[in-house]
Amino acid sequence: MAERPYNNFTDELRTRLSIVDVVSRRVPLVRRGQNYWGCCPFHNEKTPSFSVSEEKGFYHCFGCGEHGDIISFTMKSENLEFRDAIRALADMAGIKMPDYKPKSAAQIAAEESYINITAHAAQMYQKKLYEPGGETALSYIRGRGFTDEMIKKYGIGYAPKNNLIANSFSNIKESALIATGLCRRGDYGMYDFFRHKLMFPIFNAHGAVVAFSGRSLDGSEPKYINTTDTEMFHKRQTIFGFNFARDAIHRNNRSIVVEGQIDAIQMQCNGFPETVAPLGTALTDDHIAILCKSNRNITFCFDGDNAGQKAASRAASIIMPFVRDTSDVRFAFVTGGKDPDEVLKTGGADAMHKIINTSIGLIDFLWQIANRKFVTSTPGGQSQAEKFLDKEVEKITDVKFRSAIKSDYDKRKFDEWRKWKKTKSVHVNIELPPVDDITKNTLIYIVNTYPEIIDGYGEFLATLNIDFDVPVPTMNLTRDSAERYIVSLKIQRYLQKLNIDKKEFTSRLLMGDTSVRDEINRIDTEIVRMTEKLERLINV
Ligand code: UTP
Ligand code: MN
Repeated sequence: MAERPYNNFTDELRTRLSIVDVVSRRVPLVRRGQNYWGCCPFHNEKTPSFSVSEEKGFYHCFGCGEHGDIISFTMKSENLEFRDAIRALADMAGIKMPDYKPKSAAQIAAEESYINITAHAAQMYQKKLYEPGGETALSYIRGRGFTDEMIKKYGIGYAPKNNLIANSFSNIKESALIATGLCRRGDYGMYDFFRHKLMFPIFNAHGAVVAFSGRSLDGSEPKYINTTDTEMFHKRQTIFGFNFARDAIHRNNRSIVVEGQIDAIQMQCNGFPETVAPLGTALTDDHIAILCKSNRNITFCFDGDNAGQKAASRAASIIMPFVRDTSDVRFAFVTGGKDPDEVLKTGGADAMHKIINTSIGLIDFLWQIANRKFVTSTPGGQSQAEKFLDKEVEKITDVKFRSAIKSDYDKRKFDEWRKWKKTKSVHVNIELPPVDDITKNTLIYIVNTYPEIIDGYGEFLATLNIDFDVPVPTMNLTRDSAERYIVSLKIQRYLQKLNIDKKEFTSRLLMGDTSVRDEINRIDTEIVRMTEKLERLINV
């Protein structure tokens, strides 16, 4: 599992690649129940008896008995030697082949001893929480709503002010203590990395403690310190809470990702057992790969603030290569400066359900990002937004799905941006003189300040041939006045046109063409009607 350093390169490949993805390249699969099914590529059949389990990473044919993993599948189906199959899979995963050196017996023994030291340390911290000296930490964590049962389950403890580990493990080689990340060597000997901290053990997928996250108890910064990477702990490959959440992720067919570890614990204990959190790092594709082993339905839950929005965009970008047409990836935002822990405390699971229920889907979210990040009311902004969307959509590996998303975005561009395209593409024959500079500046202001108004007036604005992609002048117009301004301008321009038409027809009449008389009457009525309309609008 990825929570531990990969024992070897094949482990890494198995973690990185989905067996369903690998098999799908050769065999069309459909999901039925927990597994995917298709016609066996290893014997001739018309009805599918070839099953693929994403969770287990294996395929099995009930017809001919063939079974194996991504590696044996690649070897057999492509007729490759082991090393070539590994190379092909590494290409697929986009990772380099390492110069693989098998671990020595001594190395394996050393790693086991690190795990033992860490497990022992975790027990000592837990005991310290309930001993004299641990009162501050204990009352703090209870104040955060942790019951004794929760404290026990999550192995929460207290690292005292003195060098508990360095002193208690004096019979162990210094290099081993340092390798666990628990101790460091200073000028005056060994000292503990975690002192006077509330301790959260970090478990690997097998439930073994591999590292810690220590929270400051006296307001000192940083708020949290984590074990730095060791041979058994790689922050970028570890998701907090995954060992507890794994079954629920499978059962509930989705995972929830929150930002903090206390958030993850409170979520797990209050109705959202499928919740995990990265560890003080931005999300990585290794994190996503771990979650995607069970299913590809992930709800991200971020802060509503700017940082949260940014983190969410990042997550969206990272997850793109993992999405399939069956995936449900969503983004929920906790507003009001709260985090899930606080929402649960004040509003309970109901409040959290509400937030999760109003989450936005990945494809909608990307569209939203594109339209927020770029000024899509201008051709330049549209072009930038298009490039951004193209780049994201390109990452989808499933060809059919990718083109479906492409056309979905094309439709949105047509529906929501179309009017602006017309400025460029539709040639409008201008019979009217151009608008004056004041009018032009006012329109530039309106278009950029209240882009939502423009919807009904795109075609009209296009006839004015104004370049809206320029610095916006400072003005002060309410949305309401802005809208009335555009409507009245539209009527005035129409009146201008009617008057020009009338002039044209009148001169024809004077030349003796009586057939235009009706047309002149029609124009006159229209002028009266429009003038009245304009007056009504101005005299609101
Ligand atoms: P937050 O600042 O949102 O903290 O950081 P929090 O989870 O709400 O913490 P509490 O509720 O005050 O205890 C989110 C996560 O970022 C990591 C931690 O994993 C934290 O849970 N972090 C934060 C660090 O690693 N170091 C820090 O100094 C701060
Ligand atoms: Mn918090």
